[in-house]
Amino acid sequence: MSHELFEAAREAMTKAHAPYSKFPVGVALKADDGKVYLGANIENLSFPQGWCAEPTAIGAMVMGGGKKIVELAVIAEKLPLCTPCGGCRQKISEFASADTRIYLCDEAGVAKTVTMGELLPYAFETDVIG
Ligand code: THU
Repeated sequence: MSHELFEAAREAMTKAHAPYSKFPVGVALKADDGKVYLGANIENLSFPQGWCAEPTAIGAMVMGGGKKIVELAVIAEKLPLCTPCGGCRQKISEFASADTRIYLCDEAGVAKTVTMGELLPYAFETDVIG
C-alpha cells in the first residue's frame, strides 16, 4: 500500500502550481473511507496566500467524505524525504492519531516511514475548545 501511495503522491506532484518557489510537492493520503485523496502545493503571486500540498489533500478528503487519515505519503521533486512543514503537521494531526504512518519519499519510493507522534510530539490538542 505504501508504494501505491508513493505513486499517487508523485502523480499529484505533477499538478503543483509552484511557479514562484519552483518546489513542487505532492501528497497522497488514504482515509478511513478507503479512498485515496491527492494534493499539491498551490502558490499565489501574493506569496502568503499560497498553500502547501497537505491542506489541498486534507480539503479533498473532507469534501469527499473522509474523516480520518490512515496513512499519508509526501514527496518533493527537489528534496528527498521532504517532511511536512510545521503548520502542516498541526493540520494533519487534527485528522490523524499518534500512530498514523507518514511516508517520506524520494524519487524511487518510500525512503523512510515515521509516525505522526514522532513528527509532532506535544501537538496542540485540548478539549477545552469546542
Ligand atoms: N510545501 C508543501 O507543499 N508542503 C510542505 O510540507 C513543505 C512546503 C510547499 C510550500 C511552497 O509552495 C513550497 O513547498 C516551498 O516552500
